[in-house]
Order: sequence, then structure tokens, then C-alpha cells
Amino acid sequence: MLPRVYINKQRLAHARMLLNNTAKQIAEISLECGYENTSYFISLFKKNTATHRQPQEPKLLFKDPNQLLPTPAPARSLLKKMKILIIGATGTIGKKLTTTFSSRGHEIITAGRTAGAIQVDISSPESINKMYTATGNIDACICTAGTGYYGPFDTMTSEQMEPGLKGKLLGQVNLVLLGKQYLNAGGSFTLTSGIAAEHPARNGTCVAMINGAINSFVLGAAQEMKQERRINAVSPGLVEDSKDRYGAFFPGYNLVPMDKLANAYILSVEGAVNGKILKVYS
Ligand SMILES: NC(=O)c1ccc[n+]([C@@H]2O[C@H](COP(=O)([O-])OP(=O)(O)OC[C@H]3O[C@@H](n4cnc5c(N)ncnc54)[C@H](OP(=O)(O)O)[C@@H]3O)[C@@H](O)[C@H]2O)c1
Repeated sequence: MLPRVYINKQRLAHARMLLNNTAKQIAEISLECGYENTSYFISLFKKNTATHRQPQEPKLLFKDPNQLLPTPAPARSLLKKMKILIIGATGTIGKKLTTTFSSRGHEIITAGRTAGAIQVDISSPESINKMYTATGNIDACICTAGTGYYGPFDTMTSEQMEPGLKGKLLGQVNLVLLGKQYLNAGGSFTLTSGIAAEHPARNGTCVAMINGAINSFVLGAAQEMKQERRINAVSPGLVEDSKDRYGAFFPGYNLVPMDKLANAYILSVEGAVNGKILKVYS
């Protein structure tokens, strides 16, 4: 037998042992057995051997940045349990995320202005500091808190804009500035902006400005995060569960299924993306 053929046989035998006896990912096994190209490894393996567990190309959550597909159920053994702080946890989107992430096996700390395990007002840096002192180190911080002024552009004043600027915008910025020292290496911030950044509804100038600024903050901050910490923004369209509350103000907007929206937050928290605006508009 040629040495090259013999070595390949040994590598594939080792790969079969790993596939059958460990929970390692295919890409990891491929590398461990000396194949840098996972697709090549998979086709070679399939041609040469049979086993209980066949390697598969990993399923992508995203085909392109605007297309979200259902998140496959996580293999428990492969998923690191994280300590996740959700601010705005009792709101429409926050509630959905609290259920989603706890059902994926993570530890959740809920926070909100009037409800949740911790009370925080994100428009106050002191209150944010207090919250982080109470949580200690975390693996992920998700914010779905805050809103902005809706009203006619013609009569809009800076006083009307101030609560949204201090809350949804500066509040989320301060969550990052004050919270990065509490974020474990490899951890993530996920902020929430919104479709108004690109497609404002009538009366939505203030919210458009706030959402656009959040997106831009994420783009800048991601470039300078240390120790593999990450930051992303999820930009929701009008979500299904808000149809009754907001539907009349957003004529012509597609409703976003709650599971699809939750996928974007999962991608940000459990995935490797950094500096992305994850748009979920329909
Ligand atoms: N729902 C949609 O269709 C949609 C679409 C696009 C973008 N968004 C954005 O997504 C985010 C969440 O939306 P949502 O519909 O889930 O909102 P929501 O139902 O109004 O919930 C907001 C949550 O944030 C908390 N909160 C508000 N201001 C706060 C502050 N200063 N400090 C701490 N907590 C505060 C609220 O707590 P309290 O109730 O105790 O005040 C509540 O739990 C918002 O930024 C919104 O603009 C939503």
C-alpha cells in the first residue's frame, strides 16, 4: 500500500472513532485529522467509510444578512451555558427572549424599570452601575428597553426628543460603556434599534434618528472591543405580538414572526458575529 493511501486510511479511521464516540463538531474533527477543508473531508469520508454518525455540512442560520432561517435545536452538550442579563425583560420582545434563552439552558437575569429581578432605569448611569454591581460578571447583555418620541416633525421639540435620546439611545450606549468591565471575555452585547432607522413611518423622525445612531454606535464600538467581546444590534420590524398595539401606526409594514426575531438575538448571543446590524423586517 502506498504511504499516502495508508496515512489517509489512518486519518479516516481516527475520524470515525471521534464521530462515534465524541460530541465534537465536524469542523473540529476535520482539523484534528489533518483536513483543513471540511467539505473535502466530508466527501472523502463518505466515499471511504460508513459510520453511525455521518458528517454533514453545518446548517447556516443566515444565507445572507437579511435572510433568517429557523435555528436548529441546540445539541445541549455543545452549547455553553451562559449568564445572560436581559433589560426590558417584561416588555413584548423581552418576554419572548426570556422564554427563548431560558429554554436553551441559559441562566437569565431579568431587569426592567418597574419589574424584573433587578430594577434599573437605563437613562441613569448611577442606576446602570447599581445593576451591574448586583449582577456581577455576565456572559451576555441584551437590551430591549426604551422607546422614542412619535409625533409630527413640524412641531417636534428637543424637549420631546430628550427622553428617547436619554433612554433608548444614551441608555444603551451607557449599558455598554459601563458594562464592558463586567462582560466576560468572549461575551456579547446585543442592543435593539428598529426598522425606522431605514424606513421611518409617518411621525417617526425622532425614532429613526435614535435607531440609526444605535446602529452606528455598534459599528464603531465593535472595532474596538477587547478580549473577543462582541457587540451587535438587532433591528426589528413591526413584530407579531405588537400588532394590536402599534399596527395602526405602521400601515404597510410586514409583521415579523416572534421566533424569527428571537433567532437574530440567538445569533448575536450564541454565534460569533460582531459589529452586525441584524435586520429582521418581515
Ligand atoms: N415591538 C415592535 O414591533 C418593535 C419594532 C421595532 C423596534 N422595536 C424596539 O424594540 C424595543 C423593545 O420593544 P417592545 O415592543 O418590547 O417594548 P415594550 O413592550 O414597551 O417594552 C419595553 C421594556 O423596556 C422597559 N423600559 C423602558 N424604558 C426603560 C428604562 N428607561 N429603563 C429600564 N427599562 C425600561 C419597560 O419596562 P417598564 O414597563 O417597567 O417601563 C419594558 O419592560 C424598543 O426599543 C422598541 O423601540 C420594537
